[in-house]
Amino acid sequence: MSAFRITRTLPEDATAAALRADVLHGLTSDPKALPPKWFYDARGSDLFEQITELPEYYPTRAEREILADRAGEIAAALPARTLIELGSGSSEKTRYLIDALPGLHTYVPVDVSDSALVQAGQALIVERPGLDVHALIADFTAGLTLPETPGPRLLAFLGGTIGNLLPGERAAFLAGARALLSPGDALLLGTDLVKDEDVLVRAYDDAAGVTAAFNKNVLSVVNRELGADFDPGAFDHVALWDADREWIEMRLRSRTAQTVKVPALDLAVDFAAGEEMRTEVSAKFRREGVNGELAAAGLEPARWWTDGKERFALSLSVAR
Ligand code: SAH
Ligand code: AVI
Repeated sequence: MSAFRITRTLPEDATAAALRADVLHGLTSDPKALPPKWFYDARGSDLFEQITELPEYYPTRAEREILADRAGEIAAALPARTLIELGSGSSEKTRYLIDALPGLHTYVPVDVSDSALVQAGQALIVERPGLDVHALIADFTAGLTLPETPGPRLLAFLGGTIGNLLPGERAAFLAGARALLSPGDALLLGTDLVKDEDVLVRAYDDAAGVTAAFNKNVLSVVNRELGADFDPGAFDHVALWDADREWIEMRLRSRTAQTVKVPALDLAVDFAAGEEMRTEVSAKFRREGVNGELAAAGLEPARWWTDGKERFALSLSVAR
């Protein structure tokens, strides 16, 4: 018999307090910025799933290709009894790993999106009878407490979501990830790779406008949760490549001079015409950089796989 449990590790009022703090800080900074984790309410999670099917958005297909080809090798390198996945979303690609791990006892998907966790968890217990699914509603940047489950443990962080962290946050994240593992456990990390600017920009500025809707969704989240009066139609979606930092930056550009009220924070925020607010970075990586960051966190790079067009990489590193 399989079981599905879902645990909220932070009380709802702590999540609300974190959103208030992030919005207050971000809208009073110069330049203004909002952290990307607030994209993912039920609509944002659904829009992300639509992005993964766009012709321009190659990362999901590239990573799926690697998992389809290499799940057996990954499972042989680390025959995990517990698979923990951070930012698991739909868990769609994870099924390759689950199916390749014959001794898998427990799957622990971790996400801030409760709607994504419920949908994925309910599907998995039907599709994979015998698997224990213990979902955690939690922020993976805030220090995680994992359930007691059997080792060895494989910690998966797929999709290239590590690229949505700023460099300092990334180092803290990797150190935290290492601390969740015992010697011999491993981290399976998905990283999108540096490539031609036009391919990258098109992936974040698709013709159908789905990424624009995803980007503006953060304004709807702030409106609903904090009573703000952002007009998403008064902002344009911007995606640009920063060649020095090797990241895509998504921004929202104010079409006119306007004032936005955020009653829950007792705040009125002025936007100048053309002013841009950063909503996400999506860093792109090179092998040496990934290996250096892993080693700095106490993780020994062991394997590196790419898709046939070398667009995306999966790496396996071992906790020593
Ligand atoms: N791994 C999936 C989903 C990637 S989308 C894939 O590869 O397709 C990024 C996911 O990370 C979303 O489901 C989002 O809700 C989650 N997420 C973003 N920031 C997070 C955070 N700080 N803590 C936990 N989950 C987060
Ligand atoms: C979840 N993350 C890896 C996506 C990315 O590509 O950075 C989020 C995204 N933003 C715009 N499109 C997709």
